[in-house]
Amino acid sequence: MSKAHIGRVVASAAVVLLVAVVAVLGKAWWDSRLPETYNVMSYGTHEYGGGPEPPNHEGHDAGAGTSVADLHGASDGTPDARFELTARAADIRLSSGRVVHALTFDGTSPGPELRVEQGDLVEVVLRNDDVEDGVTIHWHGIDVPNAEDGVAGVTQNAVLPGASYTYRFRAEQVGTFWYHTHQVSSTEVRRGLFGVIVIEPHEEQAELDLVLAAHTFDGIPTLSRDEGFGRQKVPVGTQVRLRLVNTDSFEQTFTVSGTRFRVLAIDGTDLHEPGELESVALPVGAGGRIDVGYVQPPSSVRVALEGTKTAIGFGPSGGPARAVVTPTATFDPLTYGTPAATPFDATSTFDRRFELKITRKPGFFDGRPGRQWAINGGIYPDVPVFVVEEGDLVEITITNDTNVVHPMHLHGHHVLVLSRDGVPSTGSPWWSDTLNVSPGESYVVAFRADNPGIWMDHCHNLPHAAEGLTMHIAYAGVSTPFLVGAAHHNEPE
Ligand code: C2O
Ligand code: CU
Repeated sequence: MSKAHIGRVVASAAVVLLVAVVAVLGKAWWDSRLPETYNVMSYGTHEYGGGPEPPNHEGHDAGAGTSVADLHGASDGTPDARFELTARAADIRLSSGRVVHALTFDGTSPGPELRVEQGDLVEVVLRNDDVEDGVTIHWHGIDVPNAEDGVAGVTQNAVLPGASYTYRFRAEQVGTFWYHTHQVSSTEVRRGLFGVIVIEPHEEQAELDLVLAAHTFDGIPTLSRDEGFGRQKVPVGTQVRLRLVNTDSFEQTFTVSGTRFRVLAIDGTDLHEPGELESVALPVGAGGRIDVGYVQPPSSVRVALEGTKTAIGFGPSGGPARAVVTPTATFDPLTYGTPAATPFDATSTFDRRFELKITRKPGFFDGRPGRQWAINGGIYPDVPVFVVEEGDLVEITITNDTNVVHPMHLHGHHVLVLSRDGVPSTGSPWWSDTLNVSPGESYVVAFRADNPGIWMDHCHNLPHAAEGLTMHIAYAGVSTPFLVGAAHHNEPE
């Protein structure tokens, strides 16, 4: 063969190879595009966690088995607490006078603070004035029945301008929760469609009970719309409970200086025998909550958002907050407080055990090439669906093999943290609904499957969720008639 001939053969082999590579990539690209509309149950890899494969798992097909639309909370009875929330665009004014063009509930963001009592039948009528993309309300951390969960395209249709939706549920859990839209949530929550809901116990409470919601509006960090330098008059000796809520999509670290304090609750659940802390920083993952208690000393106490100028002072004079004390340690719930009885623990026999492994890998997400989030090796929608049966005791090992933190939020259930990186939880029982999983960390958590439905399990860095860090836990035999996708105006992330 002449040199020229060999050259031609090599060249055509290269062309064939190139065509093959282009074809493979092209197919990957084509396959990754999300359809205009789809049922979340028709996607992903169904996993059974070593438990029996329910004979009726085909019941997930739309129209089969129990529909999520039938899983409502107490549909009759007169509500004990009734609210109406109207979503609309509005200009809101921060403490400095700065105006933010926001999306709001009732013209304000955070939206109205809802306070109800444990046991109340709560009814909330959501209306949408003019939020073009539509809106829903998800009750973050409240384990409501599935049809009240507010996920567009999974548990209801997005409420479009002029329409409304009524939520009803019994407020069983005491604690600090929040509510937010779960339609185009990565944009709408950032722009202001959220608020705080507190479920108060019957027993006596702190003399001063205050919510401080961290939120960044147009790049400006705030605490309940206050950009900083805020102050509040609190008489010496007052028992104070501060409900710290992180409504941002990134971790916020709260600092409390000028007093010793206790962490009373995490994600709405009270801790057992919490000890006194001082100079300890309180990181709160996106979507998470921490309640702090202290008794007002004669000098002022300062609550700040680390790394920002945002701080609020509490003191008898109402005067300026004392200088910040730089924390020397970081709060760790794994060893804080003392143990108490739990309905199950690490030694229990689990009906199903799942792995939820978060990685990053090159590929296509909805037709876009790049380094994508992957769950158990699959890029959305090729992610797992964990199938459970009502009554199951379920264990999940969540591993973060990426270099950023992922606050993992399971809807409809609270998980008990059993261990982190193989180290057992030895403090107070630690129940979480939004677990901040740092790079390289691995948590073992468990929950009782006692709330039938199709539940999101996703990263509460909402842009991450929109980039595919989203999956579902589905009860055998439950189906949804709702469809995700632009065609139906349902875009939960
Ligand atoms: Cu606070 Cu699925 O969300
Ligand atoms: Cu994330």
